[in-house]
Amino acid sequence: MQQVTVFVPASIANLGCGFDIMGMAIESAGDIVRMEMSEGDGIEIINKTDFDIPCSVEDNVMTPSIKAMLQDRGVKAHIRVTLMGKIMPGSGIGSSAASASAAVFALNHLLGKPYDSKRLVEFAMEGEALSSGGAKHADNVAPALLGGIVLICSYHPFEYITIPFPKDFCAVVAHPHITVKTSESRAVLPEKIPLHDAIQQWANVGGLVSGFMKGDMGLVARSMRDVIVEPYRKRFIPGFDQLGERLMAEGGETFNISGSGPSVFALCKDASVGARLEVIMVEHFQQFGIKVDTFLSKGDNLGARVIF
Ligand code: HSE
Repeated sequence: MQQVTVFVPASIANLGCGFDIMGMAIESAGDIVRMEMSEGDGIEIINKTDFDIPCSVEDNVMTPSIKAMLQDRGVKAHIRVTLMGKIMPGSGIGSSAASASAAVFALNHLLGKPYDSKRLVEFAMEGEALSSGGAKHADNVAPALLGGIVLICSYHPFEYITIPFPKDFCAVVAHPHITVKTSESRAVLPEKIPLHDAIQQWANVGGLVSGFMKGDMGLVARSMRDVIVEPYRKRFIPGFDQLGERLMAEGGETFNISGSGPSVFALCKDASVGARLEVIMVEHFQQFGIKVDTFLSKGDNLGARVIF
């Protein structure tokens, strides 16, 4: 029997204008997963966290990724996965992506590392699709596996670039305890968009990527605006516009939905501003009677790693 334990960071997908093509890893949260591989067949999933996670093999996001990799490799083995630490499911910071990514990262390690990072992202997307109503997107799994900020340049063929998260930027994340399913928040999106919105959005993506590459927070802040998806999704988050205005007035540089929500995030230049923004986020959701968790984080530039 062989075994490995891995850590995979949480991630913020979309980054405003980059719906389904951009994401970044954050260092304050993540999944810890142990995988054991032995002779035999079948997958077993054990949950040692406090969260209620589907452990039936059919329903868990790790299963399609594990099966796809074993099948591609032509390997028959018994795989036991134990979830030791978990990002809160449904929080909007890449919980399902972290699990799927941990599964492929650990299995690749146990198989002797036959796959490169790009193939690992593709295998992880198989699992992530289970939680988003079948849509395959890499904007959580790619940063979770690779670390830093990831831009997906193309899905067919699959291609991406990574950019290190600038070391002096901080992210402040608030997770209001409301339920917003990714499949539901995708279902409200329009199939067609006006050309003037598309022009604004692709200009923003260009500015955002340049801003991150140059470490220019002003350019990041001006560009991290989503004129296409956010107008449809903000209805799921009580007082979204008011919260954004308050955060900007108190030193926040950007304010957006994290992935498909319900978490929201702001970027700022230093931790003291970040601490102030956390207080505002807590006050905001509490006035609606909504429990909220917040955290202040640097970007995680390492991605998935073996911890023992
Ligand atoms: N890009 C995805 C979305 C991220 O916004 O629906 C959520 O998994």
